[in-house]
Amino acid sequence: MKSAEIREAFLRFFEEKGHTRVASSSLIPANDPTLLFTNAGMNQFKDCFLGLEKRDYTRAASSQKCVRAGGKHNDLENVGYTARHHTFFEMLGNFSFGDYFKRDAISYAWEFLTSEKWLGLPKDRLWVTVYASDDEAYDIWTREVGVPSERMIRIGDNKGAPYASDNFWTMGDTGPCGPCTEIFYDHGEGIWGGPPGSEDEDGDRYIEIWNNVFMQFNRSADGSMEPLPAPSVDTGMGLERISAVLQRVHSNYEIDLFQNLLKAAAEAIGCTNDDAPSLKVVADHIRSCSFLISDGVLPSNEGRGYVLRRIIRRACRHGNKLGASGPFFHKIVAALAAEMGEAFPELRQQQAHVERVLKTEEEQFAKTLEQGLRILEQDLAALSGDLIPGELVFKLYDTYGFPVDLTNDIARERKLRLDEEGFEREMEAQRERARSASAFGMDYNSLVKVEGETRFTGYRGTRGEGRVLVLFKDGVKVDQLRAGEEGVVVLDQTPFYAESGGQIGDCGYLTANDLRFDVRETSKTGGGAFLHHGVLDSGILSVDDSVAAVVDDSVRQSTALNHSATHLLHAALREVLGEHVQQKGSLVDSQRLRFDFSHFEAVSAAQLQRLEDIVNTQIRLNTPVEIEETDIETAKARGAMALFGEKYGAQVRVLTMGGGFSVELCGGTHVSRTGDIGLFKIVSEGGVASGVRRIEAVTGAAALAYLNQAEQQLKDAASLVKGSRETLVDKLSAVLERNRQLEKELEQLKARAASAAGNDLAASAIEVRGVRVLAARLDGLDGKALLAMVDQLKNKLGSAVVLLGGAQEGKVVLVAGVTQDLTARLKAGDLMKQAAAAVGGKGGGRPDMAQGGGSDPAGLDAALALAHGFVEQGL
Ligand code: ALA
Repeated sequence: MKSAEIREAFLRFFEEKGHTRVASSSLIPANDPTLLFTNAGMNQFKDCFLGLEKRDYTRAASSQKCVRAGGKHNDLENVGYTARHHTFFEMLGNFSFGDYFKRDAISYAWEFLTSEKWLGLPKDRLWVTVYASDDEAYDIWTREVGVPSERMIRIGDNKGAPYASDNFWTMGDTGPCGPCTEIFYDHGEGIWGGPPGSEDEDGDRYIEIWNNVFMQFNRSADGSMEPLPAPSVDTGMGLERISAVLQRVHSNYEIDLFQNLLKAAAEAIGCTNDDAPSLKVVADHIRSCSFLISDGVLPSNEGRGYVLRRIIRRACRHGNKLGASGPFFHKIVAALAAEMGEAFPELRQQQAHVERVLKTEEEQFAKTLEQGLRILEQDLAALSGDLIPGELVFKLYDTYGFPVDLTNDIARERKLRLDEEGFEREMEAQRERARSASAFGMDYNSLVKVEGETRFTGYRGTRGEGRVLVLFKDGVKVDQLRAGEEGVVVLDQTPFYAESGGQIGDCGYLTANDLRFDVRETSKTGGGAFLHHGVLDSGILSVDDSVAAVVDDSVRQSTALNHSATHLLHAALREVLGEHVQQKGSLVDSQRLRFDFSHFEAVSAAQLQRLEDIVNTQIRLNTPVEIEETDIETAKARGAMALFGEKYGAQVRVLTMGGGFSVELCGGTHVSRTGDIGLFKIVSEGGVASGVRRIEAVTGAAALAYLNQAEQQLKDAASLVKGSRETLVDKLSAVLERNRQLEKELEQLKARAASAAGNDLAASAIEVRGVRVLAARLDGLDGKALLAMVDQLKNKLGSAVVLLGGAQEGKVVLVAGVTQDLTARLKAGDLMKQAAAAVGGKGGGRPDMAQGGGSDPAGLDAALALAHGFVEQGL
């Protein structure tokens, strides 16, 4: 069976068992600050397990894109060296949200794996593990399914802490978790490895193919386990592993899916050894990198972008090991899009973007390697002993992105050793810094347990009533807030818009009698509870209080102008630049709008002008903004632009502007007619990452203020040149022309003065053993002037050594000259080396003429004094 057929069979099997087929979510977890990348099929259902979100189904099945590199589940270092680890893989999963539990989960898994109608695997090849204390699961397997006890293994807390076990699955440090039962396939005696729990379990003989987790608890940051509202099921089967089993191969890299990728990798690198671990690394990494980039991640120095950068660099390194010369990695994207584009259309849509990003990163890394090598060479030259200090290895790694294994290779070649302990120390300190600076903030998602969602009433108005459901102070639930205290208020309904879709949350205040809570920002949890963050100015606020909620109207209104203008800009960009333009990020507040989008080159001035014209035309047409609630399929059929990685519910809001000029899914607050925007003005355009541009713009009163300010600057500039707006350009051109003329005259004057000074100087040359030596200080002259003088003095003196130096603004310039008849014995370059060192700098050049400089004017006299000794010793 081909991988694609297995994926389809799995989803169909579970559909027949009453499950809803759900599409894979993005690799960037929506609204979950605790997770680096989507690492399991259950991620998108986290809130369903926690009881925070209700959907119209209680059984689901999916094939989920997963990345396990960085974060809690991290397989990066294993990739390429085992038959079964990947940075990217697909996880087939079935889920029950308080519906069926252990018995059905186990019998479904067994039926799908062994029934002839489905996968038909031989039962005697299957081994099963259960959590040590889970007698219930053990009994179901042995008594009901009939797995003999020889192939049943109980696994306890084998990782050194309560619940730290291969058979107790947790999503991350916090979140839903529970005991699990895992099904293993025995690839047979020919492969090395032992059954789970044995000493040789890490081998590739017994491969875990399916994990069934019995979700029962929510783990909090302090380690406490609270029962979930209802026992649930979360399962995961690696598509690549089960494909290997069914295709009767022993390594994931031998399955159909990887054949073309390995071939394309070998071709791009130009290598013939298609069994090398490095080739597998490259074939694996192209999948994680391409999927991550197409889901919106870009290489950078922090967070997700940093992990992506590391994977790309690792791929480059392994390609280089195989002999790649020049960028090769991006060339494999086409093969991946061909292989997986059917199941994941984003790969095809974004192929060009992914290739660009990878190519740029590859080129940059090549430069990094070059630079790192230079620094290493320099520092090695100064090394005494055979130990490369850990700080140097770390500096190369951290500052220059120079891989440690490469430093190690070089060390080995030169019979040097790495101070590994020192390096580890530096790394640990770095990790500590990263931990303390972690952006993964307080997770209100798991703290705030609110039945149902906060009802948002703010589309219709900016005032409303609400009842306090929950209060937090310092992340802890409290019954009351007192005057002066900071906290978070959750209401049953609110007109406050919570930050999402790039639009910032509303501010304003909550009030009742003598209490007033200043709302500084509003956000929401994955479960849909709105959090009003702020400070209680006066009174006492208690749970169950009814309050009036008042949004700051003017901020809301200016924000709406910017948000609506963003939609118009997005549509205009696609019209002017092309359909490849995809939103990559957006930030809308009351001051301005910022829109990031995929595009490969700077947007020209003419294109910017067209964008402005199109948007302003739409504004002047003053058409009504239409809003419709509908289901996602209808919305997509209307051509609504949906954002990748956004989580959309069953009902979506479709926003149409300009009678269909722009159609987008959007939950934001908007103007009622385009004319409300007033005016749209772009204030900047630039690049933010490779293949991503950013436009910032202002609207309404802010746009007018921007133009007024520009006009004022124009007037100020005109008055400086005693002109008007109309004559400014002519006047400025005249001033610049005059300036150029004056510069020329000044140059000539300087040269004349120097020549006169040269005559005087020549007279002050001193004879040293028959050679005329002239060393003089001429402050305020630049290198060019000194050079001309040295030339002139050499001519005048006939046979001489000349050293001139000058200081200006803390910098020293030096020029040395030696006439041809003397260069066999006295070299200007050598003199310069000595002289420059005396002013804390460097210099060099030809035997007859050399230049240098430094940053220590105090040493200049001493530097000049060196000339005599130099001649004396050189003769
Ligand atoms: N979430 C479980 C896993 O990833 C099924 O193994």
